[in-house]
Amino acid sequence: MTAVLTDEKIPNNVHLADDRRLQRALEAWQPQFLDWWKAMGPVGWQERDIYLRTAVSVETDGWAHFNYVKMPDYRWGIFLEPKQEGRVHGFGDFAGQPVWDEVPGEFRNMLRRLVVTQGDTEPASVEQQRLLGDTAPSLYDLRNLFQVNVEEGRHLWAMVYLLHTYFGRDGREEAEELLARRSGDVDKPRILGAFNEPTSHWLSFFMFTMFTDRDGKYQLAALAESGFDPLARTCRFMLTEEAHHMFVGESGVQRVVKRACELMKTAPGGDVRAAGGIDLPTIQKYLHLWYSLSLDLFGGEVSSNAADAFASGLKGRYKEDRYPEHKLIGSHFAMDVLEEGKVVHKDIAMRNALNEVLRTEYIKDCQRGVDRWNKTIKDEGIDFVITLPSAKFHRNIGMWSTQRFTPTGDMIDQATYDARQGEWLPNAADEVFVKSLMHPVYEPGKMASWIAPPAKGINNLPGDFEYVKPA
Ligand SMILES: [Fe+2]
Ligand SMILES: [Fe+2]
Repeated sequence: MTAVLTDEKIPNNVHLADDRRLQRALEAWQPQFLDWWKAMGPVGWQERDIYLRTAVSVETDGWAHFNYVKMPDYRWGIFLEPKQEGRVHGFGDFAGQPVWDEVPGEFRNMLRRLVVTQGDTEPASVEQQRLLGDTAPSLYDLRNLFQVNVEEGRHLWAMVYLLHTYFGRDGREEAEELLARRSGDVDKPRILGAFNEPTSHWLSFFMFTMFTDRDGKYQLAALAESGFDPLARTCRFMLTEEAHHMFVGESGVQRVVKRACELMKTAPGGDVRAAGGIDLPTIQKYLHLWYSLSLDLFGGEVSSNAADAFASGLKGRYKEDRYPEHKLIGSHFAMDVLEEGKVVHKDIAMRNALNEVLRTEYIKDCQRGVDRWNKTIKDEGIDFVITLPSAKFHRNIGMWSTQRFTPTGDMIDQATYDARQGEWLPNAADEVFVKSLMHPVYEPGKMASWIAPPAKGINNLPGDFEYVKPA
């Protein structure tokens, strides 16, 4: 199963050549994907040699190959983790029974919706980030942007493989729709809110890869538990690539934070902005924005959809096997809910609380990253603490979206919120300021004024490595 055929049109470890019908269908989709990539992928840079990693197998040691490649020549392939013989459903109503290799008829629509919703996020983020190559703070960062972009393209391939293989004609139609929707488009927007927000500069890109890609990690991890085995195997391998995306985000913000701290000590009057840096309060505002947008992606706090997806064995919890019990009948989750306009803490039937359970794990993971940023600030000798806002703040989905809250979670009226919003979220002036710093720096080893250099290079390459070759 792990044998990889990279000399085929579509590199894969799924024996694509043995299924001529599927192979033809995917080979027909391939030029459409490339057309989309050229139209909606990174603007410029397509003819440049970029030092990228390409997934070539699912072996833990050596699954990726690093070399210079032009993005349109990137070998987008289909890789599933090997099948585990004897695998059984790990949770839900079918716990203990053999997993499914085919789509169970009664759950077909729910499963297709899960695959399409995940699949839609992948090209969406590429579209959101397509202009960032104009203003990268270094060649290292430029290369990381493109690495994330080509891998989101591969994740789209992963979901399209499932649609083509297991969903027949409507699967093929959904695969075409995935290339037809456009991030931020009024008529044909991407499915989820955060994937229609502009990622208009590099601070937002780093926040996006820190917080929104991390939502992706948790969604993929929950789907990696699936009793529909091809989905589980696909998502497990996607998680391998996803780790680097979150590294780009966490280390990116950390470097912006570090630079802010350095300038607080060295700039005249400690004026970070005047010295060409992004001050810590502004960083905090962008955290508020992207964190809250990302919390929305987990869906409603109390959700019958989440209960159904769990019951049917399609979507589990994060690392399901850490939990002692996998059916969740009669158990409860203690959480805040809104009742008659008041916040109350109460027990909710566990299956209905599963979005909140997953969100809670995500929040803990985000906090660990923020703690590392705060350690950087402390090590620099600066007195400032970055915080995650309350999960009730600035929500557009779920029960908290019907009321207004401060970042510390106090309920306030709309007028107070409107008056104070600009203190908490990036306002027009912040956006203008951050954009004013976005000048490209494309000399090997050089960094823009607002960001510290990375601790080490990709693959431990030297600081002045030429990650992107000149035209
Ligand atoms: Fe992805
Ligand atoms: Fe990602």
